[in-house]
Amino acid sequence: MADRDSESPGDGDPTMPGGAGPSRRGLDAVALGPSAGMWYTWWAGDRLPRLAPPPRLEVLRLPDAAHVAEFTDWHLKDAQAYVRAGNAFYVAYLGGIAVAYGSSAAKRIAIGELDLVRPLPPRNRYLWGFVTESPWRGHGIYPRLLRAIVAAERRDAERFWIGHESANLTSGRGILKAGFTPVGELFFLPTGGLGLVAIAPGARAEAGAAILGARVLASG
Ligand SMILES: CC(C)(COP(=O)(O)OP(=O)(O)OC[C@H]1O[C@@H](n2cnc3c(N)ncnc32)[C@H](O)[C@@H]1OP(=O)(O)O)[C@@H](O)C(=O)NCCC(=O)NCCS
Repeated sequence: MADRDSESPGDGDPTMPGGAGPSRRGLDAVALGPSAGMWYTWWAGDRLPRLAPPPRLEVLRLPDAAHVAEFTDWHLKDAQAYVRAGNAFYVAYLGGIAVAYGSSAAKRIAIGELDLVRPLPPRNRYLWGFVTESPWRGHGIYPRLLRAIVAAERRDAERFWIGHESANLTSGRGILKAGFTPVGELFFLPTGGLGLVAIAPGARAEAGAAILGARVLASG
């Protein structure tokens, strides 16, 4: 299915869903531990909100481990392991200055904060490790970098996943502006593992939970 671009001017200005996150109706019987973050997705065919005229931004995928090592200052062997694990490193340049960067994983999802490493299904991508350098924050670079990565990889992938810690509303705003759909909020379960309190029921909640090995707890 072809992606639909938005037509209305207000489309580039989403707000956080439901104000404070997913509904927890019907969860009285389920004990939840602390929040483990918010979870979002973009699927082929999803609407792409119009973004306001961009600063002139060029996004490049670093071609190999040597370039990754040079850009990040990592040891070459760490950069090689990163590439072998299926990661691609993207850098956004503004007038030749590197202003933001982030990674796209094609083979496995690894989230240190959740102590989680799992294989990714084919044609899925996990986007992670995004930073906009401080002087350049608030100019809409992050959503444009996300969009550029989706555009670069959508021939080979149809589902993109991304998350952030619940308190990181800044990241959430950028992810929504890029056109991602909130899937739900993750919680550590006192019984072990992760639970996903879905924002909307259905395939995205099921797929989003399965990617993380989480249990779908309820829908809002
Ligand atoms: C999250 C981050 C990547 C966003 O990058 P960005 O290019 O500034 O993204 P945006 O320009 O779309 O701004 C996103 C939100 O940041 C906030 N913001 C605006 N100006 C800002 C500034 N000068 N400094 C910090 N945050 C600002 C706003 O809430 C903005 O949303 P709004 O424009 O709808 O009000 C960046 O803040 C960052 O690198 N943070 C530290 C690392 C991090 O949290 N990474 C994400 C991990 S999931």
